[in-house]
Amino acid sequence: MSELRSAQWFAGTDRNAYIHRAWMRRGNTDDTLDGKRPQIAIANTASDLTPCNMHLGEVAEAVKRGVWESGGVPYNLPVVSLGETQVKPTAMLWRNMAAMAMEEMFRANPIDGLVLLGGCDKTIPALLMAAASVNLPAIVVPGGPMLTGHFRGEALGCGTDVWRLSEEVRGGTISSQQFRDSESSMIRSKGHCNTMGTASTMAVVAEALGMTIPGFAGTPAPDSRLLSLSQETGRLIVDLIAADRRPSDIMTRKAFLNAIIAVAAVGGSTNAVVHLLAIAGRVGVRLTLDDFDEAGRDVPLLLNLQPSGHFLMDDLYRAGGLLAALSEISDLLHPDPITVTGKPLVSYLGNSPVYDDTVILPRDKPLMEHAGIAVLRGNLAPDGAIIKPSAATPALLQHRGPAVVFDSIEDMRARLDDPDLEITADSVLVLRGCGPRGYPGMPEVGNMPLPRTLLEQGVRDMVRISDARMSGTAYGTVILHVAPEAAAGGPLGLVRTGDVIELDVEARTLRMMVSDDELAARLASPESVAAFAAPDRGWAKLYVEHVMQADTGADLDFLVGSSGDGVARESH
Ligand code: FES
Ligand code: MG
Repeated sequence: MSELRSAQWFAGTDRNAYIHRAWMRRGNTDDTLDGKRPQIAIANTASDLTPCNMHLGEVAEAVKRGVWESGGVPYNLPVVSLGETQVKPTAMLWRNMAAMAMEEMFRANPIDGLVLLGGCDKTIPALLMAAASVNLPAIVVPGGPMLTGHFRGEALGCGTDVWRLSEEVRGGTISSQQFRDSESSMIRSKGHCNTMGTASTMAVVAEALGMTIPGFAGTPAPDSRLLSLSQETGRLIVDLIAADRRPSDIMTRKAFLNAIIAVAAVGGSTNAVVHLLAIAGRVGVRLTLDDFDEAGRDVPLLLNLQPSGHFLMDDLYRAGGLLAALSEISDLLHPDPITVTGKPLVSYLGNSPVYDDTVILPRDKPLMEHAGIAVLRGNLAPDGAIIKPSAATPALLQHRGPAVVFDSIEDMRARLDDPDLEITADSVLVLRGCGPRGYPGMPEVGNMPLPRTLLEQGVRDMVRISDARMSGTAYGTVILHVAPEAAAGGPLGLVRTGDVIELDVEARTLRMMVSDDELAARLASPESVAAFAAPDRGWAKLYVEHVMQADTGADLDFLVGSSGDGVARESH
């Protein structure tokens, strides 16, 4: 092994080596700080305010055992954690802050490798962005989904059933007391959302990128195998350092294409788009929005999981897990990208039987033939917008209708149920001011609720368009991530109620039937739209001044690229 990075702290007899070693003696001995034992940070997003990740303390202990077994020295390193359901205005506002803080702490500390403990939506993306930026050997431990909860004999999908039941209340088919009663059944155990929402999707992404031990993603949080695999991860990180296998060796362009294919096959969250683009930016891989459409277009949707289908993550694990699903499409995956083990992802496929083909569908009987996220362009979204066809209503994928425009979520909430609002099932709901810069932080509000009058008539889906994101657990014919956003001068800001909007997912177009001359005239005298966010201090100010648009991953412009693992000057 070449000299360890941490030896630049611990090796030697001078005053600085003394200082670095002496204060680390609590928990260490002479031989663990001799500059020859790999020092491993366990980047831990456990937090009582990130309920999906609360159990990661126990997981960290399992990782530590593995690190000690392999001759490394483990350290628990608490890092910024984001509880998707708790923080306002949206956890996405701080994904980049979390990633930046993690990156800086990884680089500043005497460590040689990283084990990344994540779970809830933004935590794995932030950890991967940080690890890519510092490019130290790293392995992800996905914290795992919770067990399935039942309400009156029916399984409840986290998130997905919140959206569904809340619309049923508004449509008058269930009472608000019944809605309230279902609450205690939804969150059954430790772990993250049990649907194929963003957390489950990002675990799939981490594994498809090669950044987990293959077969790890989707292991339920309370399952004893989560701790076994965590311990194995602890052993493996020490090998990774010896082999000098770094994120940039694993997360190659083809690995990203494999991740896109995997997201399509599992019916993964639209949020994977902004996260994969941002991670690729950090590791220096060229990845564009069009790669999602091209790589995912012919991939069949094989998992019958909510929100696209019926079952939940625990069912996937019982049915054979992610590797069984990927085995069905192994011919579509690029064969060369290696995983953290040094062996290619595809070498783990083929020996993983499917035990329940109602959960993992056969290749020739998929839930949907072409499941990839579609990228739409046109005069409404010059830099692109996305839609997840598997979560949409097929009949609405080609649609023409008049716009009903809202300038903010407050505006929408104030007017949506107004009996005087002129709206039909053919109308297209348009929401703006919800992009990265405008909100700020690009919240998950794109799956707007439907007007009560239409719900009462039995309408359950409409075309909706916004510069927002939507929860990975949500569904509907929802067009998201319109770029540029209204607050960045995008034409979404020029739409007026009554303009005819035309969506054609097959043709990949999204247009408003308004002439260029008329748009130019509107641009010259913009209709007053609600003021966009204008924070005057702190992170939010830095964020709105530097955040990029959704089509390039909504990272901060100065965080694109890697700064590596260079060691800075001495502190004393
Ligand atoms: Fe944490 Fe869904 S809220 S994963
Ligand atoms: Mg979410």
